[in-house]
Amino acid sequence: MSVTILSVETSCDETSSAVLVDGINIKSNIISSQVDVHRKFGGVVPEVASRKHLELINHVIQEALDEAGIGFNNLDAVAVTYGPGLVGALLVGVAAAKAIAFGLDIPLIGVNHLEGHVSANFLVEPQPEFPVICLVVSGGHTDLVLISGYGRYELLGATRDDAAGEAFDKVARVLGLGYPGGPLIDNMALSGNDMAIDLPRAYLAADSLDFSFSGLKTAVINYLHRANQKGVPVNKADVAASFQRAAVDVLVDKTLLAAQKCRTKTIMLAGGVAANRLLRQEITYRASREGRRVIYPPPVLCTDNAAMIGCAAYYKYLQNDFAPLTLNAMPNLSL
Ligand code: KG4
Ligand code: ZN
Repeated sequence: MSVTILSVETSCDETSSAVLVDGINIKSNIISSQVDVHRKFGGVVPEVASRKHLELINHVIQEALDEAGIGFNNLDAVAVTYGPGLVGALLVGVAAAKAIAFGLDIPLIGVNHLEGHVSANFLVEPQPEFPVICLVVSGGHTDLVLISGYGRYELLGATRDDAAGEAFDKVARVLGLGYPGGPLIDNMALSGNDMAIDLPRAYLAADSLDFSFSGLKTAVINYLHRANQKGVPVNKADVAASFQRAAVDVLVDKTLLAAQKCRTKTIMLAGGVAANRLLRQEITYRASREGRRVIYPPPVLCTDNAAMIGCAAYYKYLQNDFAPLTLNAMPNLSL
């Protein structure tokens, strides 16, 4: 018997709902982005995000069902992201999912957003050779995680200050490129020289699996400030390329170090920054020289989406890992 799960994701600025059959067969994955609303503020405004989710949620869920060609009565369970994220944004999805679970008398499954990002890889490769090292790089997180099986995680390292995506967004903002910055830097860097500007790479202790990106971000800001004071023209493509190279160097070095330490053959990338072309290329090339494989989801499954939540939920469904109807949003939830 197949299992049909409706999933809901509202942790930040995408209102998303998906229908998955047996955890891998994506029947629909509707993503309504609020990027245009937040762009004029240069970043996500939490209160605006909650209101927008409220406006969109019912339509997005209905569209997910319509595109999958099913109705509410065909659902075996409903899954929702309950953290980490913006509390008001999370609450909209959690309330909607609880109402559906209660109304239909079907199980409710609470999913950790980070577990969702990791699980996007299982949509590409449903049965990877565990253990796996996963680099989770998003706007809010930069984590190295050892995955020993579905739902079995050990955090090996994390950022001590800014997340990698946050640094991309801030650098894009000071360059006047717009929001969200990651994809804009990714594009602009293609025409720049990545050795034009000497920027710092923070490795911390030699064997540390922690990250730090605030020094790199500050170095870019100082460089632009100095150029501005001296009236020297700035080549934005060179700045984007040099910044991206510095960030990617550290991400790749530390991920490979984690794979060496844990003797894992397979590496996964997850989260919005996993869509970055240089990161994907560079880690694939360098891992292959060490006999390791790299798996990553297509870009649309790297950034926030409900299909990844539905995939994570399927493994919880198989283990009867259901949430009570008192499920609440947990903005600081960790893996
Ligand atoms: O996973 P995600 O959609 O949301 C969070 O959970 O945070 O990640 C969003 C982050 C943003 O910081 C965005 O700038 C970054 O992912 N991002 C990228 C790229 N696409 C999205 N960063 C670098 N290169 C990209 N191509
Ligand atoms: Zn995310």
